[in-house]
Amino acid sequence: MTFLIDNIGELVTNIPGTGDGGLLGVRRKAAVLVEEGDIAWVGPSRYAPAADRRIDAQGGAVLPGFVDSHAHLVFAGDRATEFAARMAGEAYTGGGIRTTVAATRAASDDDLRDNVSRLRDEALRQGTTTIEIKSGYGLTVADEARSLRIATEFSTETTFLGAHVVPPEYADRADDYVGLVCGPMLRAARPYARWIDVFCEKGAFDADHARAILTVGKDAGLGVRVHANQLGPGEGVQLAVELGAASADHCTHLSREDIDALAGSHTVATLLPGAEFSTRSAYPEARRLLDAGATVALATDCNPGSSYTSSMPFCIALAVREMGMTPAEAVWAATAGGARALRRDDLGVIRPRARADIVVLDAPSHAHLAYRPGVPLVTKVLHNGVPQ
Ligand code: NIG
Ligand code: FE
Repeated sequence: MTFLIDNIGELVTNIPGTGDGGLLGVRRKAAVLVEEGDIAWVGPSRYAPAADRRIDAQGGAVLPGFVDSHAHLVFAGDRATEFAARMAGEAYTGGGIRTTVAATRAASDDDLRDNVSRLRDEALRQGTTTIEIKSGYGLTVADEARSLRIATEFSTETTFLGAHVVPPEYADRADDYVGLVCGPMLRAARPYARWIDVFCEKGAFDADHARAILTVGKDAGLGVRVHANQLGPGEGVQLAVELGAASADHCTHLSREDIDALAGSHTVATLLPGAEFSTRSAYPEARRLLDAGATVALATDCNPGSSYTSSMPFCIALAVREMGMTPAEAVWAATAGGARALRRDDLGVIRPRARADIVVLDAPSHAHLAYRPGVPLVTKVLHNGVPQ
């Protein structure tokens, strides 16, 4: 089955320097042919090949599907009460993670699966065609393995986050818990994970523990990503760069040295403005990162504590309004940037042989994603070449 997408208002290809010559490589009067899950052809609509079916974009903008490279979807329960308390003045410390751990351990496999499915569908409706999924609310060998096993039913981008916090039964025995994570837990998680992540932060894991965990994970063949510098300054970003991590995530409290280290590396700075929104905190300095030459991605951090949103358009709007990014920079970061953060060159781009993950907007340009915040502009989604 082939599909031809035409009557496109603007086509965001994410091939900089092509089309209008800008960052997004915007083409006009273009059409896209999709065949068997891949993009087969991109060119002027007047030369478009014949196809089995036509998809009329009705003058709307057409973009690569959003690549959400940071989400914690395997959990049970919610923390609306904690959110309300925060909005009444309480600080976010990450301590609530243990509440979700208790609920997750008590949940059945089907409850967890249903929750992931619900959030994945919610994200897909808003244009997210790739979503990374972390474990991290199980924190026992069995619960981390089952969280990841369930995650693999929904994504190939799965991340072992056994080092999210030290669980209560290991209170004051962090060394022992790190031993568990590096040994039996990693062995049980390994078959279901592509990545390993650590929450490197005061109150979670220090840089020595994080280095030990990430190094054994890397030796076991997992790619590295790090929750770094979210709640305060720290060594997380430098550690991510030292280990050649694909991504340092959050990056809310950065020194000049951190920014220079990111700019001089292949580690993407993944910014998660939903977390600052939901914890009423200062936003990361995207402008300084971009001006220094760092690669920036945007992701939701979807989780029940610090950022309970699955909406990439919402994150784009926040990045533009609150973080000094241009609409083009934010859209690039939410598509091609996310693909870089997952080291995937088949995603986040509209060119032949890329995956046919495509979004059609009910708006003439990508800028409307920030210009019309909160409005459901995504009208059509193709995932793996299949209209949803
Ligand atoms: O990315 N920072 C650590 N993990 C999550 C928060 C999880 C939670 O509060 O439940 C985050 O913000
Ligand atoms: Fe996170």
